[in-house]
Amino acid sequence: MKIDGVPYRTIWPAADGAVEILDQTLFPHRFEILRLTGLDEAAHAIRAMQVRGAPLIGATAAYGLALALRKDASDAGLASAAATLLATRPTAVNLHWALERMKAALAPLAPAERADAAWAEAAALCDEDVAINAAIGDHGLKIVEELAAKKAPGEPVRILTHCNAGWLATVDWGTATAPIYKAHDKGVPVEVWVDETRPRNQGAFLTAWELGRHGVPHKVIVDNAGGHLMQRGLVDMVIVGTDRTTARGDVCNKIGTYLKALAAHDNGVPFYVALPSPTIDFTVDDGFEIPIEERSGDEVSWLPGLTDAGDYTRVRLTPETSPAANPAFDVTPARLVTALVTERGVCPATREGIAGLFPERAAA
Ligand code: MRU
Repeated sequence: MKIDGVPYRTIWPAADGAVEILDQTLFPHRFEILRLTGLDEAAHAIRAMQVRGAPLIGATAAYGLALALRKDASDAGLASAAATLLATRPTAVNLHWALERMKAALAPLAPAERADAAWAEAAALCDEDVAINAAIGDHGLKIVEELAAKKAPGEPVRILTHCNAGWLATVDWGTATAPIYKAHDKGVPVEVWVDETRPRNQGAFLTAWELGRHGVPHKVIVDNAGGHLMQRGLVDMVIVGTDRTTARGDVCNKIGTYLKALAAHDNGVPFYVALPSPTIDFTVDDGFEIPIEERSGDEVSWLPGLTDAGDYTRVRLTPETSPAANPAFDVTPARLVTALVTERGVCPATREGIAGLFPERAAA
């Protein structure tokens, strides 16, 4: 996506051998490029959510492995670097997928050949992510256009989204936002309800920033407003991303997604999930088997913000004596999902639907 006319991805190799990312912990107030020079910095970037979003976590892990292999490309070095990266965050399956893909490409090579091959494989993985998300956008665009066709000319399709499944969560385009960007770019009027997405505020901090930069009309709403808006007929469709979708179509995504799906179901609002195929975990059927990341209660108890002087600070929200729980993801059962929007097309959130689009992976 372009920022002030300059095209950016969320991660790229620098000329001097480092990897550069956009530090997402500073958004929306600061736009800073952060350099990753080794395995530990890459692992920290994922853990601390300087990069986040399932596809981008996978891409960062791939480049993290490339950085690690430059120092130690032995079998033991490869295995240990992959284990370090895998341990950073448990829920998004793209992390596991990317590392398995890298290992499969690198393990058969002689150690001396591995570092160069790792950089090439990480770059290919990133390019594929961009192409996949663009294709998701094309398929999702048709859904938005169908809704637009039922409206008076110029009246926007009102789309609710949760968390950030935007270009900042991927290498480019985003998953849930790709159809939104494609529609907007084509002149189809859209208006986005952006859930703030407590406690990390990915909607308020990241999705709102992205949409604003791209000129897409949007409003940030508190997490509890979605049901009310749907009851009043103010939401035409919901579209979200996912960190792991099971073989039968259960969807694990940012905490609060399930409540939006319930409200959508109760109000007859279509609920779509946009996903690249690396987010499908064919080894898991039941969404409740997916490990749910439990993050620090501090993220609930404290709210980050800016001082008048423009410095980052945080303010305490809760009584100091009240502990907080912070499950980061929840599971939306497939029965609440209208359809999955993938790079190969739109399918029902069922085993047959998914296997129909990805027969080679379902059979593997
Ligand atoms: O904790 P995060 O910010 O990494 O969670 C991100 C999400 O839940 C996204 O919706 C998901 O990764 C899909 S991104 C295309």
